[in-house]
Amino acid sequence: QRHLLGIDPLRPDEITTLLDLADQYVTLSRRRDKHANALAGLTQVNMFFENSTRTQASFEIAGKRLGADVMNMSMQASSIKKGETLIDTAMTLNAMHPDLLVVRHPQSGAVALLAQKVNCAVLNAGDGRHEHPTQALLDALTIRRAKGRLHRLTIAICGDIAHSRVARSNILLLHKMENRIRLVGPRTLMPAGIDAFGVEVYEDMNEGLKDADVVMMLRLQKERMDGGFIPSEREYYHRFGLDGEKLARAKPDAIVMHPGPMNRGVEIDGTLADDINRSVIQDQVEMGVAVRMAAMDLLARNLRARPKEIVA
Ligand code: CP
Repeated sequence: QRHLLGIDPLRPDEITTLLDLADQYVTLSRRRDKHANALAGLTQVNMFFENSTRTQASFEIAGKRLGADVMNMSMQASSIKKGETLIDTAMTLNAMHPDLLVVRHPQSGAVALLAQKVNCAVLNAGDGRHEHPTQALLDALTIRRAKGRLHRLTIAICGDIAHSRVARSNILLLHKMENRIRLVGPRTLMPAGIDAFGVEVYEDMNEGLKDADVVMMLRLQKERMDGGFIPSEREYYHRFGLDGEKLARAKPDAIVMHPGPMNRGVEIDGTLADDINRSVIQDQVEMGVAVRMAAMDLLARNLRARPKEIVA
């Protein structure tokens, strides 16, 4: 692949290759000397048009750990504020010969559009409600390490599915790897036509979580609700918030996941989120750095293999 724009175009063997490399980067990242030179001589630019803690920090750390020159564009201070378009901004940066462009944007499809205009490799760090491929890959690595496999698991993805790019990328990836996927949440927060994705849909947490191996909780994405239905947080927590009682329906060794940012007491009980016997939320953060190192390493190998005149 030239870019990483979504999970959709990836084959299962490509996903496995990336996760195997990420495993090596987990080992490297736990050493005192964490440096490798896979991106030495390359320039990585991070452009985040939407807020981020985990994704932006981990892409920056990943790039630096692999020896890239990393620049974080401050979009608040950029000429976007003076009316410059996304494409003009991208073309301007392109003229400075970056090798890797990491982009988060509130509009679905914006990152793919930008990728058509630049010569470098583009990584989608989340576009609207469309895809967040590196999140799904880090979730996959977390599951594979916790469960010892990434197939034939029952995985419940719970909460606001309709507005979640994390849910979409996870559904695509977990389906490709032949897992049983259950979506659990209010009907009003399920995307239209979701049944066509080969998933089971539940409105009752007790039914949806029954015998699950993995329980993945999602935040209510109020910023994408466009004034539509927003449930009261109290009522929502009562019916759909994960607590010990609801988790008891899942398998005794089921793991609890959350991509973050987390709203304690809304979609998940705070004590459960911190329970290191059940929650792998901090592991997900750790896997995020390793997966982003692997993704950029593989794209850079591709980049270096291309004829120089195309890159220039
Ligand atoms: N999971 C995730 O994308 O978190 P951030 O918004 O903090 O990057």
